[in-house]
Amino acid sequence: MSKAAISFTGVRKSYGDKIVVDGLSFSVAPGECFGLLGPNGAGKSTTVRMVLGMAPPDAGKIIVLGEPVPARARSARMSIGVVPQFDNLEPGFTVRENLLVFGRYFGMSTREIEAVVPSLLEFARLESKVDARVTELSGGMKRRLMLARALINDPQLLVMDEPTTGLDPHARHLIWERLRSLLARGKTILLTTHFMEEAERLCDRLCVLEEGRKIAEGGPRALIAEQIGSHVVEIRGGNPHELRTLIAPHAQRIEVSGGTLFCYVSDPERVCVQLRGRAALRLLQRPANLEDVFLQLTGRGMKE
Ligand SMILES: Nc1ncnc2c1ncn2[C@@H]1O[C@H](COP(=O)(O)OP(=O)(O)OP(=O)(O)O)[C@@H](O)[C@H]1O
Ligand SMILES: [Mg+2]
Repeated sequence: MSKAAISFTGVRKSYGDKIVVDGLSFSVAPGECFGLLGPNGAGKSTTVRMVLGMAPPDAGKIIVLGEPVPARARSARMSIGVVPQFDNLEPGFTVRENLLVFGRYFGMSTREIEAVVPSLLEFARLESKVDARVTELSGGMKRRLMLARALINDPQLLVMDEPTTGLDPHARHLIWERLRSLLARGKTILLTTHFMEEAERLCDRLCVLEEGRKIAEGGPRALIAEQIGSHVVEIRGGNPHELRTLIAPHAQRIEVSGGTLFCYVSDPERVCVQLRGRAALRLLQRPANLEDVFLQLTGRGMKE
């Protein structure tokens, strides 16, 4: 079996007296897409920064592409492409200049960089913007340039912190397609995301963090089956407490959140039959998804 691309063992990190990452262990296999999920402040970006050697852990062991981090992070970084949570492009430089400057950081010659620029711009659909300054780009274009830039050194491992935040649906689907093609070429991806659909579509495995601790780990489908089941019926418009009593015998679990009743069921028809003829109700019957898992694990609020 080949070695892990990333391995964290018992990693801890505090800022002042706040524990931000609390004994985190996980490993990412080569060729895998691994997702870090969790609410704001859960410790995702801190974990990403520790992978890159930008934040030293207080305890634990980190190995990235065979190199101990942070001790040999510089060496590991040569084979990593990074998309940080917040853009750090050179604002006064053009798209081409940004790629040139970044390529030189990896020891590439101008000729080598010029040779890959067209395919990077095609990847990011920025061909027409090659001579535009960063200040003239929209937020989504900057994000796409960050992705293109991350690929300049043909990295083995891509580490991306919220790669599609701020992108419109077209751009997001384009990026998903591109990331899938990178995975098909054997690249390894570590990403954080708040888009559960993104995690469900792209990630082979993921872990959910809360207050720096891992609260779940597994493949998206396995987590959905294990935490939620197969289907959800959302019911709005009635008295949730009365409905709850009516439906309870037919649902595995029921949750009330605001004016909505969430029924977790294996057979949604059995619940719908109970509600037939109640014109005031609005029913939404759908397969369970990763968003249900996230809300269940991290609290939908108003749990009953
Ligand atoms: N450099 C720092 N100094 C002090 N506290 C920090 C620093 N970086 C992060 N923190 C704190 O660590 C915690 C985790 O932050 P982190 O950025 O890792 O969260 P996150 O999961 O990426 O959140 P988000 O989804 O909002 O991006 C937060 O409470 C944050 O305030
Ligand atoms: Mg973050």
